[in-house]
Amino acid sequence: MPEPCFRYARQSDAPALVALIEHAYRGEDTAGRWNSEAHLLKGPRTNGDEISTLIGREDSRFLIAELDARIAGCCLIQGLSDPARNWSSADGPADSDVAASSIGDVNAAYFGMFAIDPAIHGGGLGKQILAEAERRAQDLWGANQMVMTVINLRSELIEWYQRRGYRLTGATLPFPFSDTTGETTRDFHLTEMRKDLR
Ligand SMILES: CC(C)(COP(=O)(O)OP(=O)(O)OC[C@H]1O[C@@H](n2cnc3c(N)ncnc32)[C@H](O)[C@@H]1OP(=O)(O)O)[C@@H](O)C(=O)NCCC(=O)NCCS
Repeated sequence: MPEPCFRYARQSDAPALVALIEHAYRGEDTAGRWNSEAHLLKGPRTNGDEISTLIGREDSRFLIAELDARIAGCCLIQGLSDPARNWSSADGPADSDVAASSIGDVNAAYFGMFAIDPAIHGGGLGKQILAEAERRAQDLWGANQMVMTVINLRSELIEWYQRRGYRLTGATLPFPFSDTTGETTRDFHLTEMRKDLR
């Protein structure tokens, strides 16, 4: 695989990001694989308004990886240094634990909306984007910790993050079910993972 080119998303990228995220997370063609959530959630993962809002936020960056000038992967990073700041509504419910994580020596950045083109899953781009996101969160906001939430039933994905240095903190959040999430069961929640960046 050639070296990816990294850049931050512009508003004009929003439709391509929606398509990538929907395909990677919940596409029917990859349902049942270790890295899909299509068996749990049938509704849309996001929408254009949400992605546009996130691209425009001062405390957020959508990191894009391009291969041969085409978007091949993305992730969202958000600085959480303002203690009054909570999770974006896009990636999880408001939670006091996250605000608390920005107090004292911990200056956490949030990681989410992580999606790789399914045509190149397993090619190593996911590892490259995560590492680049960690570097950029340190550069942008002086983050010394990355925090994310993962559906607790996705054990292979949790193990994937553990092999990258993330640990389960034991904190959990209810999954933000809505009229449109299209869940096949409600017997799951979000579990928090963190990694010290330095
Ligand atoms: C999760 C995701 C971002 C990983 O990106 P990727 O480019 O496919 O991952 P990489 O090529 O860097 O790594 C592939 C890993 O998959 C592992 N893998 C491959 N087949 C697997 C299987 N059947 N079961 C478990 N792990 C498997 C490989 O062992 C490798 O991990 P390792 O290097 O630690 O051994 C990507 O698959 C994706 O977009 N998934 C859908 C969206 C999603 O779930 N996002 C995360 C939400 S928190």
